[in-house]
Amino acid sequence: MPISARRVETFGTTIFTEINVLAQQYHALNLGQGKPDFDTPSDIVAELVKASQAGNYNQYAPGPGTPDLRQAVAHHAARFYDLDIDPDRGVIVTAGATEGLLSCVLGLVDPGDEVIVIEPFYDSYVPNIIMAGAVPVFVPLHPPTWTFDPDELRAAFSNKTRAIILNSPHNPTGRVFTREELTLLAELCIEHDVIVISDEVYEHLTLGDASYLSIATLPGMFERTVTVSSAGKSFSATGWKIGWVYGHPDILDGVARAHQFITFAVHHPTQQAVAYALNQPDSYYRAFKEMYEDKVELLMSSLEGSGLQYSRPQGTYFIMADFSHVFDGMPFDFTRYLISEIGVACIPPESMYSKEHRHIGKNYVRFSFCKSDEALRQARIPLQKLRLKA
Ligand SMILES: Cc1ncc(COP(=O)(O)O)c(C=O)c1O
Repeated sequence: MPISARRVETFGTTIFTEINVLAQQYHALNLGQGKPDFDTPSDIVAELVKASQAGNYNQYAPGPGTPDLRQAVAHHAARFYDLDIDPDRGVIVTAGATEGLLSCVLGLVDPGDEVIVIEPFYDSYVPNIIMAGAVPVFVPLHPPTWTFDPDELRAAFSNKTRAIILNSPHNPTGRVFTREELTLLAELCIEHDVIVISDEVYEHLTLGDASYLSIATLPGMFERTVTVSSAGKSFSATGWKIGWVYGHPDILDGVARAHQFITFAVHHPTQQAVAYALNQPDSYYRAFKEMYEDKVELLMSSLEGSGLQYSRPQGTYFIMADFSHVFDGMPFDFTRYLISEIGVACIPPESMYSKEHRHIGKNYVRFSFCKSDEALRQARIPLQKLRLKA
């Protein structure tokens, strides 16, 4: 008797679980999963405690989210992107961006529709598309600059294309897409009447002078974009799993219909704490960016001289590194070697590619720098062994 349904038959264990188990087994320094090893700011945690004890927030929250959080999301979109969001009909609060993305796909995409996915991709996109009965169509980013070929992007659009999932700043490559790249993408979406599901969870994580542009702000795009984000990255609170989707009320209607039968409502007190967090002054967001600018320097100086080739990311807390000068094999083999022989864990990108494009990322692995300064410094000594052993 078959145990699982056909729609989930191809889904394996996520790579993060697999790597965490290996890292623990070998006591490796874990620069794999994008999970901070430091805590959420204490004033934000204090708001969660306060909300839990207030006596008003321990029963079901309103399905679309608390009025305070919906208002804070709308205010944040106006403050940073000059977008006019209706807090009542234009925001849905979800269980992390992960549920936000699933609600967008289930609520907006029909079986048989095509959904364009840029590779390498965050690992939930393709299972979401498959669960909706739709068909993923892949457009690769090409190393070492991680840019898409405009002709390959154009060729991916057809009369069956319903949506494209865009992620900028981009996990795992650290790219922040330029105005020119987003303008081409927007033009194609308008020409083919396609929706953008814009995953912006790293919106506050641009590095150096990279400037972040939200695709919903481009001409003609607001009506066809649903923007997904979450508190996980911006407030170092990945365990809270509070996310949101915002956009024009007409396009959000489908998302709301799906959301009400996935989770109905999400954790009530945490929504109040996230409303507080989103309203942090500019000094918070500036210090957050500066913290990661320091951390990227620390990781780069630990990688320097190791024989791994990398370039400075424009955003996110990830670096993609080319290991082909120090190891002969596939990324998963290199990751195993790095964990067991060198003592550092990273993430191999095989599961972030379709089979047909897996060769494009065959020399790369992803390192995270959302780790303590000490851990990032400590990585230097083991990583230097790489070149010596090669
Ligand atoms: C690109 C991207 N999208 C979505 C998510 C999931 O976000 P959340 O933890 O809010 O569900 C992540 C988490 O790593 C991510 O990197």
